[in-house]
Amino acid sequence: MAVALAVAALGMAACGATPQTTLEPTTEAARTARDLLMFVFWAMVITFVLVEGALLYVLIRFRRRSGDGIPPQTHGNTPLEIGWTIAPAILVVIIVVLTVPAIFSNARAASPDALQVRAIGHQWWFEFQYPDLGVVTANELHLPVNRDVEIQLESNDVLHSFWVPSLRGKLDMVPGRANRFTIRPEVTGTFPGQCAEFCGTAHALMKFHVVVETQADFDAWVQNELSDSLTPTSDLARSGQEALTLGGCVACHTIRGTDSAGVLGPDLTHMGSRQHIAAGILENTPENMRLWLSDPQGVKPGNTMVIPELTTDQLDALVAYLEGLK
Ligand code: CUA
Repeated sequence: MAVALAVAALGMAACGATPQTTLEPTTEAARTARDLLMFVFWAMVITFVLVEGALLYVLIRFRRRSGDGIPPQTHGNTPLEIGWTIAPAILVVIIVVLTVPAIFSNARAASPDALQVRAIGHQWWFEFQYPDLGVVTANELHLPVNRDVEIQLESNDVLHSFWVPSLRGKLDMVPGRANRFTIRPEVTGTFPGQCAEFCGTAHALMKFHVVVETQADFDAWVQNELSDSLTPTSDLARSGQEALTLGGCVACHTIRGTDSAGVLGPDLTHMGSRQHIAAGILENTPENMRLWLSDPQGVKPGNTMVIPELTTDQLDALVAYLEGLK
């Protein structure tokens, strides 16, 4: 267990400045989870050392030596049996006493001025709506720092799970039901998250990021999100917009301010401003955008994006247009 945890922590620490790990909490809810985890972990370590130590001691101290006959045969030892029944029971009671208040604090109600967010799981991406602000976006959740946020979890198809370990433990996104939780981000930065409930072929590639920023930065982001998409300024980008309309992308994607008004896929109105594409798995660079558009099944096997084979010119144009949607 200790080795597995250490390896997992190392692996996650290698993933960037804000690793996807429960061990570096940045909210009250995440600290509560980390503290419980560490208590149970060390209780297990101590129990393991005591039990295995006693076992090794007995094996060596009382091993059979040459000349030994059959040892005295005994059955049962009442004090010992009572002891090893009561000791774990006490440990379990301590864990319960620590866990129950944590469950209630994790389920606390949001303050009346909390920011409301709807997070909707899709195979295999995350939709984020801000009902009070009129913002709809995908795969990158922006939150202001030091303000309560009430997140309502829903699913468009199958079970998913919303998990940003440095902000909070995971909670399922269940079709036909709304789960809610409240968090209060305390640290600005970009925090990686992912779906944590098996939901089909591309489950492991269903990632997203939470950008926690100052209120001023958040307000600026909201203003930009509310605006229509930028009109392409170059001929290349203009032909990209045309290719997108003729290629059928409009049937699934919305780009506000254009003819694209589909609602099956992520809203692309400001996708050029996002840090990642393809539901959090690729950094948003022109090279990656080209890779994604030329081979979506190679990048994310099983994804439902239907895209015709594109010529080099069409790829150039589409990349120019989409990257320009700041
Ligand atoms: Cu969505 Cu796993």
